[in-house]
Amino acid sequence: MPITKRQTPRPYLTSPERRRQLLDVAHEVGLLVVEDNPYGLLTIEGDPLPALRSMDDQVIYLGSFSKTFAPGFRVGWVLAPHAVRERLTIAQEAAVLSPPVFSQFAVAAYLDRFDWRAQIVAFRSMYAARRDAMFAGLTDHMPPGTTWTVPNGGFFVWVTLPEGLDSQALLARAVSERVAYVPGTAFYADGFGSRNMRLSYCFPTAERIYEGTRRLGKVIADELERTYRRKVAWGVHLGEREVIFTNIAAPAMTRLRQPERKVLDTLVDAGVARSRAEALAWCVRLVGRHEEDWLSELGAAMRNVDAVRDQGPASDR
Ligand SMILES: Cc1ncc(COP(=O)(O)O)c(C=O)c1O
Repeated sequence: MPITKRQTPRPYLTSPERRRQLLDVAHEVGLLVVEDNPYGLLTIEGDPLPALRSMDDQVIYLGSFSKTFAPGFRVGWVLAPHAVRERLTIAQEAAVLSPPVFSQFAVAAYLDRFDWRAQIVAFRSMYAARRDAMFAGLTDHMPPGTTWTVPNGGFFVWVTLPEGLDSQALLARAVSERVAYVPGTAFYADGFGSRNMRLSYCFPTAERIYEGTRRLGKVIADELERTYRRKVAWGVHLGEREVIFTNIAAPAMTRLRQPERKVLDTLVDAGVARSRAEALAWCVRLVGRHEEDWLSELGAAMRNVDAVRDQGPASDR
C-alpha cells in the first residue's frame, strides 16, 4: 500500500516516474494498489503532485477528513472500482455495523455550504507557519549531531538523534518537561528507529512549538552529557527561563577561556545581552565596527615585531 505523499513518519514523496513504474509493476503482476493519501492537499510550497488514482482508475484511493476538517468526526472516504466498493461496504458493516451518520451529515453539510477549498489554502499557510516555527526551534535548540527532515507538507518532522541516544528512553524525561513525541521504534516491526522521533507540528501554536523544541533540546543535551560525560550544551538562567546554547553557540563557547566567558557574563549581567550567545554576537558586531582601527593597531604592532626581529639577537646572548 503506497503512501505517495507525506508518508508518516518520513515525509518522502514518490516522484511521478516512480508512480508510473509502480502502477506498471502492479498491472504486470496483477496487484491492486491502495493509495493512502490523507495529507495530499496539505502541500506547503508548490502544487500537490497528481494522485496515483488520477493516473489509473483501478487504484483504491483512501482519503480522510481528519486532517482537513476535524479528526474527532472519524470520517474518511474510499474511491474504489465498483466490485471492490461492494465488498468494502460488506466488510465495513461487519466491522462497525453502522458508520457515524451524524458525523457524515456534518461533513456533507460542510462540503456543501462552506468554501472548503479556501479553508485548505488557509490550513496550508497555517501549517507552513507551524512547520517553520519547528525548523527555527530545531535549528536554535538541538544539540550538535541531531538532524531532521524538512517536509513540504503533512504534519511531521522526523528527527534523528546523535549516536548513542535512544528516543524511547528519553520519552519519560521529555514528558516531564511537558513535550511529547512518538519514538521511532513505533513505526518499525524490528526495533529499528531507536535513534528517531516523530515530532508533530499540527496542533500547537507556533510559539508553543518553538518553546517545545527548546525543552526537547535541553532533554537531549542533558542525555548527551550523561552518555558522554562531556558538556555538550548548557544553560543560563534568565529570570524564570533557562536558555541553552547548542549547535551554533556551543563550539565557539567551548573554545573560550574563563576570562572571556566572564566578559560575556558581565555583558549579560549588565543587560546588554540576554544570553552569552547574544553577548558573543554583540562582541563580534563590535569587532566589525572597530575593525579598521584594530587592524591598523595590529599592523603597527606587527611592524614593531618585525623591527625588533630585524635588529637580531641582543649582543649579550
Ligand atoms: C498516512 C496516514 N494514513 C491514514 C491516517 C488515518 O487518519 P484517520 O484515521 O484520522 O482518518 C493517518 C493518520 O494519522 C495517516 O498518517
